[in-house]
Amino acid sequence: MGCAVILRAMTRDPMAARIQGQIDAPASKRRYVRSLFGRIAGRYDLTNDLMSMGRHRVWKRLALGLAEIRPGHVVLDLAAGTGDFAIRAAKNAGASTVIAADLTWEMMVAGKSRPEAEGVQWTQCDATDLPFPDQSIDRVLVGYGLRNFPDLNWCIGEIRRCLTPGGRFVSLDFGRAEPEWLDHWYLKYLDVSTSVAGWVLHRDVESYRYIPESLRQYPAQRGVTELMQRHGFVRCGHIDLVFGAMAINFGQAPG
Ligand SMILES: C[S@@+](CC[C@H](N)C(=O)[O-])C[C@H]1O[C@@H](n2cnc3c(N)ncnc32)[C@H](O)[C@@H]1O
Repeated sequence: MGCAVILRAMTRDPMAARIQGQIDAPASKRRYVRSLFGRIAGRYDLTNDLMSMGRHRVWKRLALGLAEIRPGHVVLDLAAGTGDFAIRAAKNAGASTVIAADLTWEMMVAGKSRPEAEGVQWTQCDATDLPFPDQSIDRVLVGYGLRNFPDLNWCIGEIRRCLTPGGRFVSLDFGRAEPEWLDHWYLKYLDVSTSVAGWVLHRDVESYRYIPESLRQYPAQRGVTELMQRHGFVRCGHIDLVFGAMAINFGQAPG
């Protein structure tokens, strides 16, 4: 069974095409993503640690540092999942109000049950329609979220609308590696490793195959920088991690 999973992933089996078909259009992508995270919520934190070998903690600390959170700030952890950024913002960075917002109820239930999550406010919402007034949030943090949004361009506009003048937006996500040959093999590696992880952890090969397939559709760090600039963000840039396989995007609302 294990070898079959690896071989099928290497040859880009029909599963890849099926996932692409589901995430091609905004409405079906939203449905697909919500159902996927609903299924894996219970083991999400464990999987995150195993798949990144704990490195996501280091990258999140780096992203949080770039956000420069100060006491008194209102911080939004968007696509918060189990609230990693929100918890860090509340505990270590001293923000006065920390909101964790996510589309998937099951992810937030897992987050709320974490003892460290005390003080975090949870709200279920879609990044395409944020329930916050204009210029009401000082910092927006997104961890592994942008790639999942049904309409990325629209969502970046929503984030910009909610930010106070001078407010910062920082995102950590998978990226596209450089040079091109490395990116090719990196995606192949993801095809295989996510298939195996899905099978081992959930007996569901498809659950993590979504990662490389969503990455193939995602404009990645360079595209996100361009979108941010188009929405009027200033001081935009990105930091490549692991040859660009991971990346942190950042930018600031003018003012
Ligand atoms: C990979 S998890 C990331 C969780 C957490 N931020 C982290 O860094 O580990 C992606 C999260 O994005 C959420 N999500 C996907 N589409 C969304 C949307 N349109 N609006 C809000 N959250 C969304 C999912 O429900 C899921 O919890």
